[in-house]
Amino acid sequence: MFETPDAPSAPAVLPNPLREGLAEERVPEPAAMVIFGASGDLAHRKLLPALYSLTRDRLLPARFAIVGFARRAVSDEVFREEMRAACNEHARRRPIDPDLWSAFARNIFYQQGEYEDPASFLALKQRLADIERTLGLHGNRVFYLATPPSSFASVIRSLGEAELAPKPPPLGAPQPPGAPPPFARVIIEKPFGTDLETARALNRHIHETLDERQIYRIDHYLGKETVQNLLVFRFANGIFEPVWNNRFVDHVQITGAESIGVETRGGYFEQAGSLRDMVQNHLLQVLSLFAMEPPIAFDPDAVRDEKLKVLKALRYIPASDFETHVVRAQYAAGSSGGEAVRGYRQEPHVSPSSATETFVALKLFIDSWRWAGVPFYLRSGKRLPKRVTEIAVHFKEAPHLLFGRRGESIRPNVLAIRIQPDEGIALNFGSKLPGPAMEIAPVSMEFRYGSSFGVEPPEAYERLLLDCLLGDSTLFTRADEVEASWAWVSRIHRRWAEETASGAGALPTYPAGSWGPPAADRLMTADGRAWRLP
Ligand code: BG6
Repeated sequence: MFETPDAPSAPAVLPNPLREGLAEERVPEPAAMVIFGASGDLAHRKLLPALYSLTRDRLLPARFAIVGFARRAVSDEVFREEMRAACNEHARRRPIDPDLWSAFARNIFYQQGEYEDPASFLALKQRLADIERTLGLHGNRVFYLATPPSSFASVIRSLGEAELAPKPPPLGAPQPPGAPPPFARVIIEKPFGTDLETARALNRHIHETLDERQIYRIDHYLGKETVQNLLVFRFANGIFEPVWNNRFVDHVQITGAESIGVETRGGYFEQAGSLRDMVQNHLLQVLSLFAMEPPIAFDPDAVRDEKLKVLKALRYIPASDFETHVVRAQYAAGSSGGEAVRGYRQEPHVSPSSATETFVALKLFIDSWRWAGVPFYLRSGKRLPKRVTEIAVHFKEAPHLLFGRRGESIRPNVLAIRIQPDEGIALNFGSKLPGPAMEIAPVSMEFRYGSSFGVEPPEAYERLLLDCLLGDSTLFTRADEVEASWAWVSRIHRRWAEETASGAGALPTYPAGSWGPPAADRLMTADGRAWRLP
């Protein structure tokens, strides 16, 4: 049992005066979290560090256990030591607190097994039952699928066969007297399918074992503070929503830029490419939160119903528009952070003749009353000049320019929502320069998370793991959302496949450290616009 709340050695948490008067945190029920793929990178870099940080912030239940499950045979002790090293390296607050760690580590266990082997799951069931009994966890379970995607289906089948994750009673069924039945929830990592057909097949397969209410498909962008703040910004303030439409907005730019290359993930990236890796999930999720109608409530289905409508309203890009609406490219050798770096084709596990895109830029439209006629420009790439994720809302010009030639320097207003790094929001507008002349200069009004709240935002995984334990799936993607975004993206892939088959559409390159190929700029200049320098 974690004794952190009362342990004398637990670090003192000082009240944050900037949070005074804000709602108290919710604490989940006692539970066990089983992590499949516990030997992998995700468990080491993200999951265990996130769980440790949640413990530190006293957001986990006092009775909580972690069971790592993977193929390697290691003891509980060895696994705990590995996780300690991982947390020391990756947890948000480092170095870890030794006393807190010993209490935390006492409830970390390891179970060796194979994902397709029924006996391994029966052994897991027995082990879980023992742990639950000893720690008083009431049988509440979260299963985290941090395995390669090829194992998602078999793990879920095995969970079902071992009766480890029974379905909840049907919605509206009368509640039996006494305590509610224990919960069993399953978190599924990305990628969820590789196209519309595979995503549909995976959904069908999962639904044979689990109810949609038990499924938590992760898109870690939804766990980022600034992405969630989009909802607050739009719907907790009265002044932005009236201008959030085609009468006031000229166009919107969404940039998801990374300075890193594919690093050690060449094998995965070869099969994915930027469109699958970043656009189908992260950028389309951000877009749907940005563009959706106000939901009738802040609950999982109301929010996801509205996001789904945006994804369904994405206009398919017709073949005739492909050249002017879709750009893909691959990074060639160049420089990053002042150092020479190799091109994508020279990266480990990448084919020397690879045709995988590491950059994509798109112009798209949302066919809805609110957004009709407003172009959305999306771009994402690896080995760009810096890491930045941003939404920039470019408003229309003032309808009448009063200031004649002196007003030439007036630029349309831009609202920049910075998702990372330097999380915050800035509004650019024109202001009079001090002095006798009516000179106008662009200025900016800024809000920054760091300075306004005096805290660094938590890691996305912290928020998402906590939400799952609390049974809140608002920030997870629903089956129909995933399918709608694949339906749109898969058409682009099909068109690319046709181009490749016909020998057309050679993949352009861009030097590492640049903002992509010239074609990405042409996509904007053809419309008399330019990418904002984020
Ligand atoms: C992952 C992609 O989903 O998101 C990676 O697979 C990418 O290729 C990463 O680097 C970006 O996430 P973040 O949080 O660093 O912006």
